[in-house]
Amino acid sequence: MTDTLVILPGDGIGPEIVAEAEKVLDWLKSNAGLEIEVEHDLIGGQAYDAYGHPFTDETLARCKSAKAILMGSVGGPKWDGVDYALRPEAGLLRARKELNLFANLRPALVFDALVDASSLKPEIVKGLDILIVRELTGGVYFGEPRGIEDLGNGERRGVNTQVYTTSEIKRIGAVAFDLARKRSNRVTSCEKANVMESGKLWREDITALHTTEFSDVQLEHMYADNCAMQLCRNPRQFDVIVTDNLFGDILSDEAAMLTGSLGMLPSASLGEVGKTGLYEPVHGSAPDIAGQNKANPLATILSLSMALRYSLERATLADMVEAAVQDVLNSGTRTADIMADNCREVGTDAMGDAVVKALENLA
Ligand code: IPM
Ligand code: MG
Repeated sequence: MTDTLVILPGDGIGPEIVAEAEKVLDWLKSNAGLEIEVEHDLIGGQAYDAYGHPFTDETLARCKSAKAILMGSVGGPKWDGVDYALRPEAGLLRARKELNLFANLRPALVFDALVDASSLKPEIVKGLDILIVRELTGGVYFGEPRGIEDLGNGERRGVNTQVYTTSEIKRIGAVAFDLARKRSNRVTSCEKANVMESGKLWREDITALHTTEFSDVQLEHMYADNCAMQLCRNPRQFDVIVTDNLFGDILSDEAAMLTGSLGMLPSASLGEVGKTGLYEPVHGSAPDIAGQNKANPLATILSLSMALRYSLERATLADMVEAAVQDVLNSGTRTADIMADNCREVGTDAMGDAVVKALENLA
């Protein structure tokens, strides 16, 4: 039986960038022996407009039986007035929760050709290669109680709950330690154990897991605010950073920006071994440039490469896609977000074409 890849383009620039990743996918199917059944479905505002829900049961069922999901992006001002439970973002959160995608891998890598695109000095970011492992199905994103309550006297009260259990902490910790062993063997675990009980538990459980199963890996604990500061001061001190859902959301945006372009960074969201993985660019739906052929499709193309590596067991093809992206960057082809002196600016579609061309040259 052929594996299935479900494509969920989503909102804003989602459809444009996903279309370029599909060019790469089609090339791999025709020329590199990739066998995969591709299905398309809707998520986010697209799905809300069509079905009245941002991630329907039917879409969930289709995703559950697939090997991997490639998503564009969700959200936009069009749905600002929609109830929280039905907003585009809620569709993505439902997908993460229902598919049990508890481990979010967000690499922040500085490509040599783009070292000047960073807002930090080249000598601080050159060669940067860190991996943020963000817990994705727990914490304040999903904790109960939550809501806004009317106190009656013109006052309202908004509540969210930060909550973690030992098994949730150890499960994400194990993913981080495992990945560190394949890299530079160092893990920095971030929380706010100085002010939050959930952070204290996080630190204790990570320490216990380290002692019993991963004592060969170098472990450091760091308060999340300090980590935010250290990422700007000396980002290369990090190898793998493991943290909760909310801190991971924030720290991964910061780490992404260190690399110069949010438009370059892919991510993988994984559950239990062998189950469906979801792959998406780290950036959002950029409604301000949607439909203008300006968006950078490379983060989505690199997300496809992560899917090849982590879900489809085609690491050689993943290497090939990454090499093609490197070649395109080295040749000076750039979308507007990473444009530099003496480079050639191209649109979304020409960037996708350039990657396919580079694949042809590599083959
Ligand atoms: C992300 C995004 C999402 C999040 C939104 C779109 C729900 O910011 O993937 O980082 O907050 O997790
Ligand atoms: Mg985010």
